[in-house]
Amino acid sequence: MTLTAHTVVHTPVEPLAVVVERRVAGLLGGAEALLRRSGRADFQANGVLPLAKVRGKNPAALAAEVAARLAGVAPVAHCVASGPGFLNIDIDDAALLRNLAARAADPRLGVARTATPGVTVVDYSSPNIAKEMHVGHLRTTVIGDALTRIFDFTGETVIRRNHLGDWGTGFGMLIEQLFDESGEGGEVPDDVAALSATYQRARACFDADAGFAERARLRVVALQAGDERTLAVWWRLVEVSQVHFQQVYAELGVLLEEADAVGESHYNPMLPQVCAELEAAGIAVESQGALCVFPEGDEGAPLIVRKGDGGYGYAVTDLAAVRDRVGTLGARRLLYLVDARQARHFAQVFDTARRAGWLPEGVTARHLPFGMVLGSDGRPFKTRSGDTVRLQDLLDQATEKATAIVAAKNPGLTGEELRTRARQVGVGALKYADLSNNRIKDYVFDPDRMLSLTGDTATYLQYAHARMRSVLRKAGEAGAVFEGAELAPAERALGLVLDEFGGAVAAAAETCEPHRLCAYLHALATAFSAFWEHCPVLKAEDERVRRNRLLLCALSARTLELGMGLLGIEAPSEL
Ligand code: ARG
Repeated sequence: MTLTAHTVVHTPVEPLAVVVERRVAGLLGGAEALLRRSGRADFQANGVLPLAKVRGKNPAALAAEVAARLAGVAPVAHCVASGPGFLNIDIDDAALLRNLAARAADPRLGVARTATPGVTVVDYSSPNIAKEMHVGHLRTTVIGDALTRIFDFTGETVIRRNHLGDWGTGFGMLIEQLFDESGEGGEVPDDVAALSATYQRARACFDADAGFAERARLRVVALQAGDERTLAVWWRLVEVSQVHFQQVYAELGVLLEEADAVGESHYNPMLPQVCAELEAAGIAVESQGALCVFPEGDEGAPLIVRKGDGGYGYAVTDLAAVRDRVGTLGARRLLYLVDARQARHFAQVFDTARRAGWLPEGVTARHLPFGMVLGSDGRPFKTRSGDTVRLQDLLDQATEKATAIVAAKNPGLTGEELRTRARQVGVGALKYADLSNNRIKDYVFDPDRMLSLTGDTATYLQYAHARMRSVLRKAGEAGAVFEGAELAPAERALGLVLDEFGGAVAAAAETCEPHRLCAYLHALATAFSAFWEHCPVLKAEDERVRRNRLLLCALSARTLELGMGLLGIEAPSEL
């Protein structure tokens, strides 16, 4: 039978490992197959040993029995018992080719959607208005973006929430300063850098001048009471900040839109009700004038839901957000990409929400902390003068370095084209360096390393992808697959890696760890390199071999492109 790349397949393609696992488990009377990839054969199953022990049988004899029944039944070509009772299993070439052709015929590459999709709200990025985004926003933004893309692909309904810090006492001071400086006009500078500077001056006045401090406090009251002039200035602050955030997101290639920005202010009208419900349920109690939730079985500080002066803080806003996301948006899962220092805050918020019934049974809430970005000295990344590093500066550094690399490879490239390519390479490198590290670990920001052509980098993946595309361009359309052809070891190895794509995506989604998908894509690019080295494609002598190799190239390119896309990393077809 011949399958072409144009055959439309709407059903997912079962990974061979899953098929073999089920087959072995069946022969073991339902016991686990304990299957894994192996250096000696395509797979090794270790499930015979524990089963033989339970049954009081000789493991080698049981293994031989199972091997005899597995061998020769598709997709298994050979199976031999080895050692004390292992099963070494090789997949049939034709079965592997059939599997790959079926993947190639599907826009999803044969990857199944999750069986039980739900609604997930992902809270990420969440910068504060009137301030520039800085290095502290890199990880939450990049990891959050990747996770939402991955969930989306698995069929989950994803709601993105950019929980902007757009409310609170700091804005009283800033708005008062703006009125002071513009002679009551309340004019707002139209870039965030100028706003940050104004904020610094406001702080200085606040500390030095009791009169100003008092006016700033009254300004907060006016803001909360919805005073028109005050609100108008506040709206301008939000607007100017949004322009800055969206500019950074666009440059970073992050999917967040203005509509996803549902800041702290959004929950302000809900706060009295939230407090009332907590108080009525006896979960929150008055303590020294403030309304507090004391943690159960913990001597630590309480969660303050309403301050002594009647003001609301950060904590109660997050409680209102939980209540809103579950109650109004219908979320079954809440995820928060926020740095590890807020672990206690979220533990208390989730615990309180659980007690209040806002997180009912079956709804999960998880704080997903992440490690820090470090400078070359191994300490939290700062500028030479000790200031916070702007996110824009990280982007510029990565893109500048990338421009040099791209220009050296393509002397003909100039202007807009060079800029676009350099951005794709630079931003890709920046994101991959962040995503490929275990989420919870710190890592060192190092532009040289993150753009290395040979390391575990986006640049390496992008070059591998561009090479695949170049072969495909030279060959014209990839043709039909010939199942009769025998596969070389490097072809089999690559084919088996391609078959694992869906598993890697599922693992990243399940654990909320994009680095698992990074590791997979790196393994794929490495398997492709070995294939490329040992298996001539365009110069293959046998037409059937050439076609099969082209299929491997095409599927590798598409798998890399799709996989990188799930990480928010572009895969240009030329580099
Ligand atoms: N704006 C906060 C900050 O800069 C982060 C908000 C995180 N999200 C949340 N729902 N609390 O620290």
